[in-house]
Amino acid sequence: MCGIVGYNGKNKAIDILLDGLSKLEYRGYDSAGVAIREKDIKIFKSKGKLVNLKEKLSNKRLNGTCGIGHTRWATHGEPSENNAHPHISNDGNVTLVHNGIIENYLELTQKLKKHGYKFYSETDTEVLANLIDYYYKKYKIGPIDAINRTMVRVRGSYAIAVMFEEYPDEIWVARKDSPMIIGQNEDGTYLASDVPAMLKYTRQVYYIDNMEAACLKKNQVIFFDLNGDVITKEMKTIEWDITAAEKEGYEHFMIKEIHEQPEVIKKTIGSYINNKTISFEESGLTKEALSNIKQVYIVACGSAYHVGVCAQYVIEELSKVQTRVDIASEFRYRKPLLDKDELVIIISQSGETADSLAALREAKSRGVKTLAIVNVVGSSIAREADYVLYTLAGPEIAVATTKAFSTQLIVAYLFAIELALSKGQITKTKYNELLKEIEKLPTSVQSILDNDLKNIQKISSEFSYKQDAFYIGRGLDYAISLEGSLKLKEISYIHSEAYAAGELKHGTISLIEDNTLVIGVVTQEDVYEKTLSNLTEVKSRGGYILSISPENIDVKKVSNYSIKIPQTLKYFYPSLSVIVLQLLGYYIAVSKGIDVDKPRNLAKSVTVE
Ligand code: AGP
Repeated sequence: MCGIVGYNGKNKAIDILLDGLSKLEYRGYDSAGVAIREKDIKIFKSKGKLVNLKEKLSNKRLNGTCGIGHTRWATHGEPSENNAHPHISNDGNVTLVHNGIIENYLELTQKLKKHGYKFYSETDTEVLANLIDYYYKKYKIGPIDAINRTMVRVRGSYAIAVMFEEYPDEIWVARKDSPMIIGQNEDGTYLASDVPAMLKYTRQVYYIDNMEAACLKKNQVIFFDLNGDVITKEMKTIEWDITAAEKEGYEHFMIKEIHEQPEVIKKTIGSYINNKTISFEESGLTKEALSNIKQVYIVACGSAYHVGVCAQYVIEELSKVQTRVDIASEFRYRKPLLDKDELVIIISQSGETADSLAALREAKSRGVKTLAIVNVVGSSIAREADYVLYTLAGPEIAVATTKAFSTQLIVAYLFAIELALSKGQITKTKYNELLKEIEKLPTSVQSILDNDLKNIQKISSEFSYKQDAFYIGRGLDYAISLEGSLKLKEISYIHSEAYAAGELKHGTISLIEDNTLVIGVVTQEDVYEKTLSNLTEVKSRGGYILSISPENIDVKKVSNYSIKIPQTLKYFYPSLSVIVLQLLGYYIAVSKGIDVDKPRNLAKSVTVE
């Protein structure tokens, strides 16, 4: 998820572009760049936060009144000046910025290389610049036809802003699945990935739809459909104030990121499943490498560790490969027994967590292969691991992880399934059935957000005075209860613990008294009755039971409050029950008036021991 901006009018473009980018830095902040039309197109790029680019431009006199800009969240190619946008075609005819992911960029790169194109970056975006140029030259056609042919040919998501050498006073845009709005006022025309970037200049905007393009002239915007025919668009007025806009109208980044989960889960699935087949080739984790793995050892911190606990159940059940999971701060000092045929998996959103990085280095120093499941491209853990599988959650601003957690679960499932197939532990039929079910998860998550959110908000306000809470479950339900408990603790400051339901009667049940809040996660059919009797034991001691279960599991009789989630295969229930657990934690914290995005004593990335 990057941020793109553009301006074409009568004022100096550079100021408007840099101001717009500063309002979009929450979308990505690992590198930035602008292209300004002076006599020819001038491009300036820099690695790191926008302030670095501003410094670079501080002594430049740029009077051009037409330009585009970009702030990056790397997906393909590490954060670097070379990989930063704008990207240009070989002869500079096409200059563009892009937000999104071109899934078939490798195939297109081969095609363009056959036509003599050379590539200077590791990005999927440079392919777009050359492909538009390729069509532009091959068919000697104008910008709109070159862009439309490109839209037909590429697979993935994109919002692009393009400048053509031969069309000095025009910016061309197009989009599919990635956001873009176009604004206009008496000073010119504007484009941006999100409202905050242009609210200072205009509230008059157009919404461009999927597979549509537009030409931004100094005083008008012309829209086109995929046939190249001109279409009309209705101008809308934005009511929001700037801060609300950065959160797209949500009260906090956390709830905004919770709502982004269907989209980012879909993106992450789309980046690994192609034609009903999982491919990790890009990471170098070949089928052969997978089939040689004798043991798996997952190491991480906090919520990422909880993904590991869930993954342990799924990997062992599907692939029959022994899997251990450990907290990184313990792993790094306890001299773990590691085997050469073992794969150590490090899970991390930030890719910079000190204990997880040290655990990675410890495993490498012992000659063991390492796989990183990471959200930040180019982060230390990503750079140092032997293999990297990126999650596509985009930048996660709220300290309490939600969408990154959900995308890590997806990658863990895909790893388990591919390992199981490479070990001959599942048939191709089972393989297809599992993938089919995973591809349903974005819709199921969306239905929880659509149908249950209001109920969860209501019941949560009844718990804001609670001092303690317990989360219980068996198997994968216990694993995800760990995450539910952490979510509540870290943002509401209510003490809570997660317990394997069968463990309660070995001590902790003595803490259960009248109205003690117990959240029971009950999705695993094969241990359903066992969990039910544990909940009954709690109920009989006065506990208040809030249960989370699918339709086919009846826990009504022990529940004071029951939340139903869509059905799926047993391996994937953590992806659904966690949404309810995130919302519970969020709304309980909000009902206590806490700033959930920046909870006390916590940091988004713990880069110290
Ligand atoms: C989770 O909400 C917390 N922010 C924290 O537990 C986090 O999961 C942990 O610090 C690990 O961070 P990482 O995924 O960036 O390595």
